[in-house]
Amino acid sequence: MDARVKKLLNEQINKEFYSAYLYLDFSNYFENKGLDGFANWYKIQAMEERDHAMLFYQYLHNNDEKVTLDAIAKPDVVLDSDMTVLKAGLKHEKYVTSLINDIYAAAYEVKDFRAMQFLDWFVKEQGEEETNANDLISKMELFGSDSKGLYMLNSELGARVYSAPSLVL
Ligand code: FEO
Repeated sequence: MDARVKKLLNEQINKEFYSAYLYLDFSNYFENKGLDGFANWYKIQAMEERDHAMLFYQYLHNNDEKVTLDAIAKPDVVLDSDMTVLKAGLKHEKYVTSLINDIYAAAYEVKDFRAMQFLDWFVKEQGEEETNANDLISKMELFGSDSKGLYMLNSELGARVYSAPSLVL
């Protein structure tokens, strides 16, 4: 495997675990506020991010590459309002999209078709992640300022259930 592609794939393990940690912090924020539905939504988001990390980990091992695990940074977003959390989620997903695009570009450059095919799933996933984060902000803007609306939205988010990623390695 090309050294730069390998380095970026390895770094992505850490970025995805950081994402999991960040979303757990979001869940923690809402748990403390008593908004258990929002807390549930972000807890499941954290589980999905852990799955993403494991996919990068497994991909490298399946290709006989050594994996290096680095320290996971402390979540660095100041969570001072519900909307701050939601907007930080969208901002973070856009950042992750840029990371996936960077790995894709590196793989494209060296004609690593296998890595490109692996990354295709993440390109699609990032589109969905950004849509979900955007939808959440829209719903919050529409209904979140009214206590009944917030209650309904919290119930809706509480119904989210975890499902394993559709990509299996
Ligand atoms: Fe693993 Fe939310 O991107």
